[in-house]
Amino acid sequence: MPAWSAAACHDPRMSASDTEPQVPVDAGSARKRPVSRTRGPTGEPSMASEPNRQTSRPTKVAIVGVGMVGSTYAYTLLLSGIASEIVLVDANHERAEGEAMDLNHAVPFAHPTKICAGDYADCEGAAITVIAAGVGQRPGETRLELVKRNAAIFGQIVPRVAESNPEGIIVVATNPVDVLTYVTLNLAGLPAHRVFGSGTILDTARFRYMLSEHLGVDPRSVHAYIIGEHGDSEVPVWSLANVAGMRLPSFCAENGIPLSPDTMERIFRQTRDAAYEIISRKGATYYAVAAGLMRITEAILRDQNTVLSISSLVTDYYGIDDVCLSLPTVVSRRGIERVLRLDLSPQEARGVRKSAEVLRETIKSLEAAGAVEPA
Ligand SMILES: NC(=O)c1ccc[n+]([C@@H]2O[C@H](COP(=O)([O-])OP(=O)(O)OC[C@H]3O[C@@H](n4cnc5c(N)ncnc54)[C@H](O)[C@@H]3O)[C@@H](O)[C@H]2O)c1
Repeated sequence: MPAWSAAACHDPRMSASDTEPQVPVDAGSARKRPVSRTRGPTGEPSMASEPNRQTSRPTKVAIVGVGMVGSTYAYTLLLSGIASEIVLVDANHERAEGEAMDLNHAVPFAHPTKICAGDYADCEGAAITVIAAGVGQRPGETRLELVKRNAAIFGQIVPRVAESNPEGIIVVATNPVDVLTYVTLNLAGLPAHRVFGSGTILDTARFRYMLSEHLGVDPRSVHAYIIGEHGDSEVPVWSLANVAGMRLPSFCAENGIPLSPDTMERIFRQTRDAAYEIISRKGATYYAVAAGLMRITEAILRDQNTVLSISSLVTDYYGIDDVCLSLPTVVSRRGIERVLRLDLSPQEARGVRKSAEVLRETIKSLEAAGAVEPA
């Protein structure tokens, strides 16, 4: 392979002054463009500050960490045609280049999209930066040790993303996603509505799928959420789950479908433990999370006000404060429009408080180790 490749965001054979005039105006590149300080309704800089020639909106997406999750998300994005430009950043730059080349060769079958392997400076002007970078658990390593290593990696990544792209949205996918969303919020110094994690978007999808199999309806017609931690302490909101507005006990009674506590426990267990089951068979999970990240991207770029269970900073909710966890959240071009504060059953409220305690403990351990600055 030549020392440079067509998949690189910059041809290193040229100096900066050589390359700048050649940057296409409509490529979503923010380099040298004046940044408008248009204010949104809350006084925050508007996402509409980097107009794209065709859409008047930025549709550049940056992905940091292009392993299984990041690269599958990039592929999903390309096939969707929603992004005009996709920048791939990875500590393993060759991997990013290889992914960019492979994806570029799919462009003739998909949509005109500029895809390149770049560095943090290339996140400039991106409407969204998705972070899926991280390391996996070493044999014998505790979860906390793994969190510390991933928090240290975020210490290298997040300030650079925020510096090159102070007006964009950051979406965290790396696990443990709730803790790393909190770490990102502290490191980025961006407003809270522009920093969130994929949270339980995947668990909610799995829950709706498992329920749909049991209820015999399209999963898209099942309205049910998993809230709290993306992990072992997550909480199924049975009390509000419904099909066509019918709560599950009525829907099941009407349609002769069993809904015993054992059935409910089985459906939740299959939801919560799905990742373990998949990882034991194929080593990693990435299609469904990539589709979830795609759904978040669409909600942002198309300004859809979609309700998604994503992880964000929660304050004053059932006694929960200063922790990132998932609740149904309205997502638009601005990022988080509002978090929906569900009325939970006493058991569900206890569950989500427990989730918050688990997450707070981990954050406290990270703070004690100096791995995250207290807010
Ligand atoms: N949120 C969810 O629902 C969900 C679902 C599945 C996986 N995940 C998580 O996503 C993360 C990525 O998973 P994967 O399967 O893609 O892993 P992977 O090992 O295939 O990819 C990780 C990538 O991060 C890169 N990386 C490591 N350190 C970096 C750094 N300092 N800067 C830039 N890049 C760096 C690696 O080079 C690698 O390409 C994991 O934490 C995994 O647990 C989350």
